[in-house]
Amino acid sequence: MKTIGVIVSGVVALFLTIAQFGTAGWTRPPMVNQQHGFRGTGMDIIQTRAGAAEIKAANLAPTPADPVEAGTDKAGAVYENVKVLQDLPVEEFNRLMVSMTEWVSPQQGCTYCHNTENMADDSLYQKRVARRMLQMTQHINTAWKEKHVGEAGVTCYTCHRGNRVPAQIWFDAPSPTRGFIARNNGQNLATPSTGLASLPYTYLQDFLAKPEADQGAIRVNATTALPGSPGKPIQSAERTFALMIHMSESLGVNCTYCHNTRAVAEWSQSTPQRTLAWHGIRMVRDLNADYLTPLTGVFPANRLGPKGDAPKLNCATCHNGQSKPMGGAHVVEPYPELAVAPATTSGPQGVPVPAAQ
Ligand code: HEC
Ligand code: HEC
Ligand code: HEC
Ligand code: HEC
Repeated sequence: MKTIGVIVSGVVALFLTIAQFGTAGWTRPPMVNQQHGFRGTGMDIIQTRAGAAEIKAANLAPTPADPVEAGTDKAGAVYENVKVLQDLPVEEFNRLMVSMTEWVSPQQGCTYCHNTENMADDSLYQKRVARRMLQMTQHINTAWKEKHVGEAGVTCYTCHRGNRVPAQIWFDAPSPTRGFIARNNGQNLATPSTGLASLPYTYLQDFLAKPEADQGAIRVNATTALPGSPGKPIQSAERTFALMIHMSESLGVNCTYCHNTRAVAEWSQSTPQRTLAWHGIRMVRDLNADYLTPLTGVFPANRLGPKGDAPKLNCATCHNGQSKPMGGAHVVEPYPELAVAPATTSGPQGVPVPAAQ
């Protein structure tokens, strides 16, 4: 009897070991580890060599279009309906149109945004959205240069990567009450965006949709040894954790990339990247509130979320699993026209929102 027991458990152990190799969650060496904080703090990034190579390969910046000989004619004077890029020489303008096609709609070509009978026509929503996207890209590369995107900058490709719609977008989550089911308080619905945990799934709309979000909302640690006033509810800590999981996954790092986990809240022990991330949170709120949300009426109904809201962006839209999008390549350098402040001066942020048609 005992021998049978030993054989059976041996066979089970063998099958479990084999199964481990074939299933997700099994990390196969060799590893590449990078020390990120002070010695002895355990602030390391641990990746497998194959995983690191895969992420790098998925984030290669495309070759920029060949430079063109710019003449003196400006796009605003030559074409009929140019509102953002008026001052760009025609040759540069056409070069950018070709690159935009490659970045956003390589399969559909110019016709994704244009009625080719009349290029000046604005009837396609894609063209009206793209005009606003041009202004958003210029805004990111100027207003957020010092605080976040630096010399690297962004182009349409940073988010779109050859897709009409970027892979990483989000909509407002459905209301917490669903039919006759008891109110779930906006949590306990394990979704990938909360790391498959029971954390609140409304954290993106709570933290990344509006600039007026309370500056202290993400902070949950007590700042005094003894409570001076009632502390924050546990749900606040849970929402903070959900956001932190989103940020870590978007950047392909763990918590120690920004925090020394012996004192998570302490700024003096955090890495400089935490400050960049702080500004990143403010940048995402600004972009969603001033650029994406005002396009709600321009998008057709089938592009809106279940609650009728516009698609929005988050850290993953640009970062896509890397701490520096596109491996830190200076993607905007060959396209200086995308690194000037938006020219028009009326409307919110100096730019008119295109009307719905
Ligand atoms: C992703 C959307 C998009 C794609 C793809 C695209 N364009 Fe454009 N195009 C625009 C936008 C937006 C404007 C207006 C720019 C402005 O207002 O400054 C524009 C304007 C133009 C104009 C000026 C028309 C006028 O008379 O006002 C021309 C010409 C043009 N595009 C050519 C092209 C060509 C050729 C292609 C394909 C190689 C192309 N575009 C692909 C979005 C796009
Ligand atoms: C910071 C990220 C980001 C950048 C940079 C960016 N986009 Fe977008 N774009 C988005 C998001 C988010 C949406 C909304 C997705 C959707 O339409 O569902 C979007 C939507 C669009 C759409 C509409 C797609 C559709 O059919 O619904 C077009 C066209 C577009 N972008 C063109 C551009 C062009 C051209 C540029 C560069 C000048 C650009 N985008 C730069 C994030 C970005
Ligand atoms: C990319 C940088 C970054 C990563 C990675 C990151 N955090 Fe944070 N964390 C921040 C920033 C920035 C804040 C402050 C946000 C604010 O005040 O608006 C913060 C705040 C916090 C707070 C609240 C501290 C307080 O003041 O009460 C906790 C708790 C926290 N993070 C936990 C985590 C955990 C757990 C992880 C890993 C799952 C993580 N963080 C990953 C940047 C990061
Ligand atoms: C519009 C695109 C975009 C969005 C959205 C975005 N980032 Fe970034 N981020 C960048 C670029 C570009 C850099 C600069 C990389 C470089 O210097 O090479 C950067 C750099 C960083 C760095 C510094 C990385 C390092 O190793 O030095 C951190 C940390 C960071 N971002 C966190 C965030 C967080 C957290 C969010 C979401 C709240 C976010 N970012 C949203 C584009 C973006």
